[in-house]
Amino acid sequence: MLMRDQEPATAADLAAMRVDYGAHLPEPEEADLDESWVAGGWEPLLRRWIEQARGLGVAEPNAMVLATVSLTGPAPRPVARTVLCKGLSPEGVTFYTNYDSAKGNQLAADPYAAASFVWPALARQVHVRGVTERVSAEVTAAYWQARPRDARLGAWASQQSRPVTSRAELDRALAETTARFADVDDIPVPPFWGGYLLRPDEVEFWQGRRGRLHNRIVARIEATGTTVERLQP
Ligand SMILES: Cc1cc2nc3c(=O)[nH]c(=O)nc-3n(C[C@H](O)[C@H](O)[C@H](O)COP(=O)(O)O)c2cc1C
Repeated sequence: MLMRDQEPATAADLAAMRVDYGAHLPEPEEADLDESWVAGGWEPLLRRWIEQARGLGVAEPNAMVLATVSLTGPAPRPVARTVLCKGLSPEGVTFYTNYDSAKGNQLAADPYAAASFVWPALARQVHVRGVTERVSAEVTAAYWQARPRDARLGAWASQQSRPVTSRAELDRALAETTARFADVDDIPVPPFWGGYLLRPDEVEFWQGRRGRLHNRIVARIEATGTTVERLQP
């Protein structure tokens, strides 16, 4: 329960909020991010950072803020929300969602996306930018098998991103879906649901340093190979 009688944060409170970057790193040299750290590719380092965040007890260490482009207004505008990275390979990062959702429609109109992982406890962030594509039905089916029954029912019941008149209507939709699949052991993948692979052409690793200039290393992935550059913080 949120504490309703808590004083609201003032502008001065917000301005005074700062943490000592890197205080929770497993080793101080973990802050010494440099170009050599991505010599083996961007994927092993991202995997390692997710694993270190998990080791530290970070909730949802695979959460990433996914930005897409909306082209429906007078001018293109970015739209961001959180999704979970459910697959990681040298090809890219995979997430699952409703293909008819706002993000699904945005990706159909413009497949470019950016995903940002942030782990404040480790003073780290990673930005993955590139083009998305739908994963195969086989890849989606394999992940779907790992989803618990509740999550499967939820995927069927929700017309994600569409308006709904009330909570009761949502609960009714779930109850109807639950009844519909009551005799079905292995609830199938909805035709409107599946994965996207974000294939990066750019991956930036950012490591905050205690009271010092932070480290930023960006890998640019092209057909001819990968170039690595340090950026100013
Ligand atoms: C920690 C966290 C993880 C989430 N993971 C997912 C996810 O993997 N897939 C998904 O469709 N929505 C996920 N959501 C919900 C999305 O942020 C979002 O509300 C939803 O996908 C609808 O987005 P859209 O209307 O922009 O398409 C997650 C939310 C949070 C806070």
